[in-house]
Amino acid sequence: MFTQRVATPPEVRDMVGSEATEVMRLLSESIGSLYPEGEAWLRKRLRDVSDGKALCKVVRTHDALSGVAIVTPKRSSAVKLSTLFVAEDSRGQGLGSALLDDVLIDLEVAGVNEVYVTVAHHLSDTLGRVLLPRGFVRVATELNRYGTGRHEAVFTRLAP
Ligand SMILES: CC(C)(COP(=O)(O)OP(=O)(O)OC[C@H]1O[C@@H](n2cnc3c(N)ncnc32)[C@H](O)[C@@H]1OP(=O)(O)O)[C@@H](O)C(=O)NCCC(=O)NCCS
Repeated sequence: MFTQRVATPPEVRDMVGSEATEVMRLLSESIGSLYPEGEAWLRKRLRDVSDGKALCKVVRTHDALSGVAIVTPKRSSAVKLSTLFVAEDSRGQGLGSALLDDVLIDLEVAGVNEVYVTVAHHLSDTLGRVLLPRGFVRVATELNRYGTGRHEAVFTRLAP
């Protein structure tokens, strides 16, 4: 009576320039509340992406932008996953995992040895559910990084 439906994996791809406004809209609320000067920071990152200095991956569902990952180079051998975000109503469907897997493939191809993430302390368990199964290790907590009580958890992954 019922036919089995095979779930299609979400398509993750590089952001195109015309999506920058949507990325701003998706991230502005969370970035603005988590980090001082968050919006200015994000604008700069998106300029870096269009200049080829940073990487931005997106995933869409029902034609709306539902997830974003941004990677910025830091030291010669390390990069920072500076954003991994999925819209609230699209969480728990594998989008965060798909974004991160795609980023890690690109980094492997580029020969990057180390990727790290810093995340607001209260989000560390949620992010950890995506990071830890992929070889990230929680290595530190930066106390009061963005003001009193605003600690950041630091996760690192070395290339296998
Ligand atoms: C962390 C985040 C990206 C995960 O995205 P997501 O699309 O929900 O992740 P997935 O659906 O791929 O789930 C990843 C894992 O977490 C588990 N998970 C997801 N939501 C969960 C929940 N509420 N409770 C328990 N487990 C949960 C999933 O089962 C999955 O585990 P599995 O791989 O063993 O099945 C998303 O929750 C998010 O954007 N949070 C806000 C982060 C943020 O504010 N970032 C801004 C600063 S960087």
